[in-house]
Amino acid sequence: MSQDFQLPMISRAPVVGLYLEYSAEGLALKLADEPKLGGVQVDFGHGRSEYRRKQGGAEAVTKALGIKKGWRPVVLDATAGLGRDAFVIASLGCEVRMIERCAPVAALLADGLARARLNGELAWVDQLMSLHYASSLDRLSELGQGVDAVYLDPMYPHKKKSAQVKKEMRLFQMLVGGDDDADGLLAAARQTGARRIVVKRPNYADWLAGEKPQAELKTKSHRFDIYLSHL
Ligand SMILES: C[S@@+](CC[C@H](N)C(=O)[O-])C[C@H]1O[C@@H](n2cnc3c(N)ncnc32)[C@H](O)[C@@H]1O
Repeated sequence: MSQDFQLPMISRAPVVGLYLEYSAEGLALKLADEPKLGGVQVDFGHGRSEYRRKQGGAEAVTKALGIKKGWRPVVLDATAGLGRDAFVIASLGCEVRMIERCAPVAALLADGLARARLNGELAWVDQLMSLHYASSLDRLSELGQGVDAVYLDPMYPHKKKSAQVKKEMRLFQMLVGGDDDADGLLAAARQTGARRIVVKRPNYADWLAGEKPQAELKTKSHRFDIYLSHL
């Protein structure tokens, strides 16, 4: 797998910094300076992902995408991350194409998908979820041909500082950074011709590219900005 993502192999864990560790439990992102922190993994069959799936996907993200009984849009998740949102969307029966540009994140996601395929209860993952290791700024319009909706959830600087930010988010922020070029994703998403573009933002964040959405859906901590095309 390391070759697929052009990641260098090392034979022992470093003393400082982030690294990926491959064990019998799968691939995990770890911080050498804080071994007690544990690893970050993509595990669709357990924990929060399992809980979200069992809730039946009745979440703001699925409402924002317009998913309802009898309407299962094909969705392009152009900022896939650890695939949490994509998994919830696919668990409702939607085809989800995912794009992720950060090699270690894409490797974690590919590993999570591979383990999900071995889990009989999650066999549908194989048919409904696909991953492309690429930048959406380059490939979105091509990979998004024929999709009904594009979903964007780029990183945004957190207001709360380290102690309050959960382990997973802290390691993830160290790895990925701030996605400072995210504004360009909106124009790229429009090139797909998708009828709906949904952008997830923290409540305090500005609109992506400063563009006002036609609708928005608010939760306690987030906002889903909804851009509609009537073509
Ligand atoms: C906040 S995370 C997404 C979390 C995801 N929604 C989830 O549920 O796990 C943002 C991710 O988007 C990725 N990303 C940002 N800009 C991108 C681009 N232009 N192309 C591909 N991936 C991008 C980052 O590398 C990061 O992994």
